Amino acid sequence: MSNHAINMGADAELARCPIMPTYGAPSVMFVRGQGTELWDSQGKRYLDFVGGLAVQSLGHANPEVAEAISEQAMTLTQVSNYWATEHAHHVALQLDRHITGSGSSYGSDSGSPSGQVFFCNSGAEANELAFKLARKYTGSGQYEILTAMGSFHGRTLAALAACGQPHKHEPFEPMPSGFHHFKRDEPDSLEELLSSSTAAIHVEPVQGEGGVWPSNKAFMSRVQELSSENKVLFMVDEVQSGLCRTGKWFAFQHFGVEPDVVCIAKALGNGFPIAAVWARAEIASAFQAGDHGSTYGGNPLGTAAARKVLEIMERDKYPQKAATLGDVLSDALGNLPRVLSVRGMGGMLAAELDGEISADIAAKATQNGLLVNPITPTAIRLTPPLSTSHDHVDEAMSILKGVLHAQPPS
Ligand SMILES: Cc1ncc(COP(=O)(O)O)c(C=O)c1O
Repeated sequence: MSNHAINMGADAELARCPIMPTYGAPSVMFVRGQGTELWDSQGKRYLDFVGGLAVQSLGHANPEVAEAISEQAMTLTQVSNYWATEHAHHVALQLDRHITGSGSSYGSDSGSPSGQVFFCNSGAEANELAFKLARKYTGSGQYEILTAMGSFHGRTLAALAACGQPHKHEPFEPMPSGFHHFKRDEPDSLEELLSSSTAAIHVEPVQGEGGVWPSNKAFMSRVQELSSENKVLFMVDEVQSGLCRTGKWFAFQHFGVEPDVVCIAKALGNGFPIAAVWARAEIASAFQAGDHGSTYGGNPLGTAAARKVLEIMERDKYPQKAATLGDVLSDALGNLPRVLSVRGMGGMLAAELDGEISADIAAKATQNGLLVNPITPTAIRLTPPLSTSHDHVDEAMSILKGVLHAQPPS
């Protein structure tokens, strides 16, 4: 069969694909990636400034991660979590080190870990575990979780209830109880919700799906104070903002705070599904055997990928890479036509446009070989691989400039 025939077949399959329509109808089928580049089933090349939604931080098909996965696939892929495997322990230690990193007052000076890690497979699962841990640790009567309006924490029922986006709740009501939403970055609104039933305050240091809104330092410090005064947990959802994306290992580190629980996913496997929750050791010890579990969580294949990802991020100084990329990209975005402002941190950015044109712009950019994400009706989000070269930034900006330029006035 010729390549052309294969491609025609792929597109025909796409048209009658028996996959539930929760993402809308896909316009392209991708078959290959390399770094920031992708190729579709017709052989057309694209620049990926979505990065699998902040997953592909080391770029598509990173050869070292691919090798670690393929070696592990030929060695051992899964055993039940009743037994230990090789890489989980190492990844847990590295996560602990990066979370409690230099300059923090976490833990002891003995070099022993200050926290413990639970491995799972997705961001929603990580948040679910955090909610259970908060309830178990704080004890009877404390069960409420406070999150921000506009926040996003995943699609399972409890994670959905935690999302501060009522329109996402409506089709699935009634929501599980015990979730309340304060106004983003408004300490008074948060204080009004705190009660003897509160178990935790759960915050995205940079709201991602809500539109890319970084928190401010005063608010994050107040969350830390209110948590300790009220004996509730301070938890951060770093599923999107974590692992170098914002220019530090974790976004909370920009704000000089020290949360009790950190939820991690997306970039941890660079495309291999793996997630983790870190908690201070005394909090994690509230869990006993039988309190939680995951058949696939922390399997050798996922943790081999994560171990390599963390090794590369540290060796190649990914926090600095993200900060530099962010500076270059935000300057370039700020100079484009129709862009009113640029917000975000490091390689997690949004450009606010001068009208409700983001879906149109994203669709036209795709036609022109650039992927960007219309995160609100008026803003596009960019979360490219952190390894993206400055040449690729120039090329992407020139495509976007052309598309914005050609867009009729709003
Ligand atoms: C901050 C945040 N939390 C949780 C999730 C849910 O992660 P997953 O889709 O892996 O369940 C996301 C996904 O975008 C996210 O951005």
